Amino acid sequence: MKKITIAIDGFSSTGKSTLAKQVAKKLGYVYVDTGAMYRAVTLFAMQNNLIDAFEFDKEQLIKRLPEINLKFQFNSQLGFAEMYLNDINVEKQIRTLEVSNFVSQVAEVSEVRAMLVKQQQQMGKDKGVVMDGRDIGTVVFPDAELKIFMNASPDVRAQRRFDELSEKGQLVSYDRVLENVLQRDYIDTHREDSPLVKADDAVEIDNSELTREAQFQKVLQLVEAKL
Ligand code: DC
Repeated sequence: MKKITIAIDGFSSTGKSTLAKQVAKKLGYVYVDTGAMYRAVTLFAMQNNLIDAFEFDKEQLIKRLPEINLKFQFNSQLGFAEMYLNDINVEKQIRTLEVSNFVSQVAEVSEVRAMLVKQQQQMGKDKGVVMDGRDIGTVVFPDAELKIFMNASPDVRAQRRFDELSEKGQLVSYDRVLENVLQRDYIDTHREDSPLVKADDAVEIDNSELTREAQFQKVLQLVEAKL
């Protein structure tokens, strides 16, 4: 059976990863969460005191990039691959609001992007992959057979992120989460290198008022049309 590359880009907390995982599972494809890679590099910077609320030592991070080894390892109990930073499972640590607060700054660094894009292209070279991120349809796989661009209103997205964090027991206010969502939108869409932008040939899905099932069915229809 013909295999294709599916690129899912869009704003943060639009449910990209949930949808991508669901589609990958249904098709028997590999799912790659590229945001997890940017988050893991951010965690490395935090662990090595290269970034905090006051300062970001970009030059040192660039120098130390060769020390960073990223790996996805499938967890059959969870049904998805978890992120490993230098052989340590960091899946939980990379999802904290603290990492979310710094990740856009790290994702602005061209050297970081170049390193991660290369790894992502390697992971998807045999097709049969669903990759989610910000630049998959524009930079990583501009020739992807199917490109989806996800959007939803900032309020809806902040509420989703707030619910997720609360479920994990992280005490944060809704206002702080909304602030983070808006700040990340701004940085992601305004950075010089590979800003978040809808590819001309991407299909846009605004899911402010769409159920997960409706989105899933829509994507499956789009996939079928490509096979
Ligand atoms: O999808 P996410 O929220 O986990 O992504 C975290 C951050 O990483 C996001 O603010 C932007 C950045 N990112 C990126 O610049 N390019 C990607 N392909 C994926 C994520």
